[in-house]
Amino acid sequence: MRVCEKGVAADARKDFDSFPLNKLKHIFNEIHYELVRSIAEGGMGMVLEGRQLGSDNFSKQVAIKLIREEYSAIPEFRSNFVGEARLVADLIHTNIVQTYHLGVIGGQYYMVMEFVNGKNLEDFIIRHLETKQKIPVTLAVFIVSRVSRGLAYAHQKRDAQGRLLGIVHRDVNPKNIMLASEGDVKLTDFGIAKALDLMYNEEGEVIAGKDEYLSPEQAKCEVTDGRADLFGCGVVLAEMLCMRNIFEGETPEATRENILKMPLPDFAKVREDVDAKLNAILHKTLARPREERYQSAAELLDILERYLYSDGYGPTNEKLAEYVRDLYGPHGATASQRWMQKNSK
Ligand SMILES: Nc1ncnc2c1ncn2[C@@H]1O[C@H](COP(=O)(O)OP(=O)(O)OP(=O)(O)O)[C@@H](O)[C@H]1O
Ligand SMILES: [Mg+2]
Repeated sequence: MRVCEKGVAADARKDFDSFPLNKLKHIFNEIHYELVRSIAEGGMGMVLEGRQLGSDNFSKQVAIKLIREEYSAIPEFRSNFVGEARLVADLIHTNIVQTYHLGVIGGQYYMVMEFVNGKNLEDFIIRHLETKQKIPVTLAVFIVSRVSRGLAYAHQKRDAQGRLLGIVHRDVNPKNIMLASEGDVKLTDFGIAKALDLMYNEEGEVIAGKDEYLSPEQAKCEVTDGRADLFGCGVVLAEMLCMRNIFEGETPEATRENILKMPLPDFAKVREDVDAKLNAILHKTLARPREERYQSAAELLDILERYLYSDGYGPTNEKLAEYVRDLYGPHGATASQRWMQKNSK
């Protein structure tokens, strides 16, 4: 047996040495994307469903984000966008929408990503409003725990030399959180906010970005670190529990003021099924001085998982998938009630 293994290894080595692959350094090939349909139009541009075509009828479903021409034309945006895209290229995690390719066609940038078959969290919240239901508390905590899991990975991501990349999302909001039909929660648009952050119009206002999801440090135009994303997680969790963004004011200025100063509600009073423990977690996540927040996404993840699973039972991807099927299916108006019946401890 030993002799045989050695023989195989030696043969394989000989084959490899004689094969020209060891001299081949590149494979050049034009990638062909077929555009299937437009999914949505966001602030940055259009998102399309596409298919990446290969030889012999190979075909892979992808999502393609076409960046608006007017953005692609701004050199400052271009360099920031490309820089961030390079940074996030190797983020591979189940809670993050993977980036496959960055291309440019006719001066217009496009980004090819993993296609997520599912709903975004904003649609999910709206569906609850339309059907007059509350999002079950544990499910809301579960969704944010999965977002924190993706963030914990990205914040800690290092390059091949072991240097911390310093990745911060900066735009954690319901439109950038996808619920895949299998029940995976996926964060999208990593790094894009940073590219936009640096773009101002003639009045000095930021061109894009949603004010009501800014962290206090972003609202004050200060330098951010991963703790800004934790604040974003808090805003999203609060929104799922209250069914509205708690900081949204009449004007962008009022919203920013609320982010900086508005006293936080007692969430246990807003909803009777929110306990003091979860209220305390939310208050710490939404602390204005970042030194008073949880100090890392990994810490927030740990706290949320303890909250969910301390008695050995709690939400899973499969249960979330079933819930979303109910919500958009024949049990649409009673999904929340069915969840309570099935999952009460
Ligand atoms: N990888 C993907 N797979 C499937 N659908 C996606 C994917 N990425 C985005 N989408 C859908 O396209 C919508 C628009 O995305 P896009 O990021 O362009 O805009 P947005 O998130 O609404 O706003 P912003 O421009 O501020 O990010 C998303 O809300 C989501 O529903
Ligand atoms: Mg987006």
